[in-house]
Amino acid sequence: MRLLVSLGLLSLSAAPTLAAYNLVESFSGSTFFNGWDFFDGFDNTTNGDVNFLSQANATASHLTFVDDAGHAIIRVDNTTFVPFNEKRNSVKIMTHDYFSVGSVFVMDAVHIPFGCSVWPSFWTKGPNWPAGGEIDIMELVNLAQDNQMTLHTTPGCTQPQGVMQLGKTSGTDCSAGTNSSEGCTVIETQSNNAGAAFASAGGGVWAAQFDVSGIFVWFWSRSSVPADVSNTSTSVDPSTWGTPSASWPSATCNITNFFTPQQLVIDITLCGDFAGQPTIYAQTCGGPVGNSSTCYLENVINNGTSQYADAYFEINYVKAYSLGDALDPTVSGTSVILSSISPTATSTSSANGSGTSSGSTKNGAARSLGRQSRSLLVSVVLAAMVFALCMA
Ligand SMILES: *[C@@H]1O[C@H](CO)[C@@H](O)[C@H](O)[C@H]1NC(C)=O
Ligand SMILES: *[C@@H]1O[C@H](CO)[C@@H](O)[C@H](O)[C@H]1NC(C)=O
Ligand SMILES: *[C@@H]1O[C@H](CO)[C@@H](O)[C@H](O)[C@H]1NC(C)=O
Ligand SMILES: *[C@@H]1O[C@H](CO)[C@@H](O)[C@H](O)[C@H]1NC(C)=O
Ligand SMILES: *[C@@H]1O[C@H](CO)[C@@H](O)[C@H](O)[C@H]1NC(C)=O
Ligand SMILES: *[C@@H]1O[C@H](CO)[C@@H](O)[C@H](O)[C@H]1NC(C)=O
Ligand SMILES: *[C@@H]1O[C@H](CO)[C@@H](O)[C@H](O)[C@H]1NC(C)=O
Ligand SMILES: *[C@@H]1O[C@H](CO)[C@@H](O)[C@H](O)[C@H]1NC(C)=O
Repeated sequence: MRLLVSLGLLSLSAAPTLAAYNLVESFSGSTFFNGWDFFDGFDNTTNGDVNFLSQANATASHLTFVDDAGHAIIRVDNTTFVPFNEKRNSVKIMTHDYFSVGSVFVMDAVHIPFGCSVWPSFWTKGPNWPAGGEIDIMELVNLAQDNQMTLHTTPGCTQPQGVMQLGKTSGTDCSAGTNSSEGCTVIETQSNNAGAAFASAGGGVWAAQFDVSGIFVWFWSRSSVPADVSNTSTSVDPSTWGTPSASWPSATCNITNFFTPQQLVIDITLCGDFAGQPTIYAQTCGGPVGNSSTCYLENVINNGTSQYADAYFEINYVKAYSLGDALDPTVSGTSVILSSISPTATSTSSANGSGTSSGSTKNGAARSLGRQSRSLLVSVVLAAMVFALCMA
């Protein structure tokens, strides 16, 4: 639901809080699924063994619903045996709206999907993806214990050495086409950030600040969620949140150059280019290394009741906050929430919020590439596209 009307009131009455991002869109409770588009069919960007359902079919199949606690459930088919050579039903939803640089995205969940073959993600992308950059806020596969946070861009965006973050860097080049297109990944080091441990601890919250000063991701397990990050807050202040789990400062990645406005995506893939990659699958699920069918054969066509009991998101809310509230209906036929950055607002203590207009953000060229394009073939195609764009 859009909260632009109340924003006007907020900005008049709000105390001059440092770095306040105001709520612009909230997905929760019985209306959680309003404002999302459902991807329908096979997704050739991840090549998972899933058939993503339309909203009508996902609702009818009970793969998406709001439970008695008011939590949104998004899940993989957990009841059937899938016939050999067919795919299992799942869900991929994308916000209808795009949010520009100068936004904060928050997801509060009590359960996230896990299990062999399972590849969940909460991420963002531009309207012409893979151009326009990608931010993976929550993503992991199979029985991996720790979330990984990643940027995917065109060449030229990197993470510098010695950055202030709690997580552990496993790749510094964000560009698709190098290093198997792994992107610049940071592995979470805080406890209870994924799997059964996440749920046992009561879940937790991720927040991503998408700012001219950089991109920063925080994670809090339930007991340490800060006061302004709650399901009732109408503004958040990242400058009070301390050291992020992952940091990509603009010093080595000019955010407005590499990222267009972003839409939020939640999906659960099975196997495919990441979870099903034989070496990665074997790391936490065993099996014969090198057999690309193992993930599919051991899980997807197996007993859905036993294999996919934990393959679900249970979400308290997803929210988007912004430094501004302008609305522009021109990008890709969808509405875009643009941030006109207020001259009095700063973002993190290290942020520099000046000099960025909504126009430059919106028009920031579609130049980025990304999303799990881990196969060599895809990498080559992407590299060729970058080359073509550079030559154009
Ligand atoms: C993926 O599917 C889209 C249509 O949904 C198509 O335009 C595109 O060419 C396909 N890409 C590949 C690599 O097959
Ligand atoms: C819903 O699923 C049925 C078969 O399960 C399929 O025939 C139909 O096209 C689907 N509808 C949509 C809107 O995806
Ligand atoms: C490339 O990937 C390897 C393995 O994931 C990693 O150790 C290395 O740091 C990466 N290099 C860059 C420049 O990202
Ligand atoms: C906020 O979330 C908590 C935990 O799920 C819940 O107990 C509480 O009722 C929620 N409050 C509102 C106002 O939605
Ligand atoms: C990013 O690049 C644009 C145009 O190239 C420039 O105006 C802006 O100052 C740069 N921002 C940062 C943080 O370096
Ligand atoms: C599928 O798994 C469930 C849960 O473990 C079990 O109760 C059921 O008997 C299994 N179905 C078959 C056909 O094996
Ligand atoms: C399958 O999903 C439904 C809907 O979330 C849930 O009620 C049921 O308990 C699940 N079954 C298993 C075995 O996890
Ligand atoms: C912020 O950036 C602008 C333009 O790049 C620069 O003029 C200004 O001095 C910077 N302010 C701070 C506090 O770094």
